[in-house]
Amino acid sequence: MEHRTFGKTRLQVPVVGMGTWQTFDVRGYGPEANARAVVDAALEAGANFFDSSPMYGQAERVLGKTLEGRRDQAFIATKVWASTAAEGQRQIQKALGFFGGKVDLYQIHNLLAWRDQLVTLEKLVGENKIGIIGATHYSASAFDELARVMKTGRIQAIQIPYNPLEREVEKIILPLAAELNLGVVVMRPFGEGGLMRNPPSESDLAPLKPFGVTTWAQALLKWILSDPRCHVAIPATSKPARMTENASVSAPWFGETERALVTRLAER
Ligand SMILES: NC(=O)c1ccc[n+]([C@@H]2O[C@H](COP(=O)([O-])OP(=O)(O)OC[C@H]3O[C@@H](n4cnc5c(N)ncnc54)[C@H](OP(=O)(O)O)[C@@H]3O)[C@@H](O)[C@H]2O)c1
Repeated sequence: MEHRTFGKTRLQVPVVGMGTWQTFDVRGYGPEANARAVVDAALEAGANFFDSSPMYGQAERVLGKTLEGRRDQAFIATKVWASTAAEGQRQIQKALGFFGGKVDLYQIHNLLAWRDQLVTLEKLVGENKIGIIGATHYSASAFDELARVMKTGRIQAIQIPYNPLEREVEKIILPLAAELNLGVVVMRPFGEGGLMRNPPSESDLAPLKPFGVTTWAQALLKWILSDPRCHVAIPATSKPARMTENASVSAPWFGETERALVTRLAER
């Protein structure tokens, strides 16, 4: 697995990690064993960056459980999603319980009550319970506010949507992240699965073969990661074999010609 330096933090993160929205919001022996198998595949491939949130139902609990006895092998990026400081503090204490008392990247989900949450998170960084702080938003309508938070100098990372059909971040957010040297986590690499519904044929993908790409999922991840301002993409999957497939993406990265081809295939 290839790694990138996560902005100014000097941390090394794998280029492919994993999201847990929907896929890890499960209960019971069978579904939780399946989640464990997905995490096994991720760790086996070195894709050990795991994103979660209290917004994702059972996901934090299930992810924490799959990492019992091997928490030190994982980089945990979860979120606080609360409209008050008190509620945020309760969420964070609960999550710290799931993740062995330490969260590597704590993100403010959808910028909710970000001023209050920043104060709490900064205190916990001082207590060494949190590594670094980030902020996330899924909607372009919130990018002006996200830029404001980035410019405070109080966060070290952002999480944003980026794929061939969602390119709004190219205007302000990615240039600003590069200027400020922030870590960039890419959510929704497959457009919440929408981009996977009508995958291109093998012959459509043939020009990408010299780049080690044989599947549409790999083409999309490579399209994202060919932008050096992006450090880690976090596709979600409920299938261990797909985790392995997603994690196989590495250099050589695409040039403009290959990126344009993938964009055309996505827009069909
Ligand atoms: N901060 C925010 O506002 C926010 C918002 C959205 C998402 N996120 C984070 O970003 C993560 C990723 O985004 P997402 O979950 O919305 O969507 P996504 O990763 O773009 O797409 C996930 C879908 O792709 C399918 N998939 C995964 N690998 C595949 C492969 N190799 N071949 C074919 N299909 C494949 C999965 O189905 P199977 O399970 O059947 O494989 C799933 O339905 C989330 O899980 C979450 O952690 C954050």
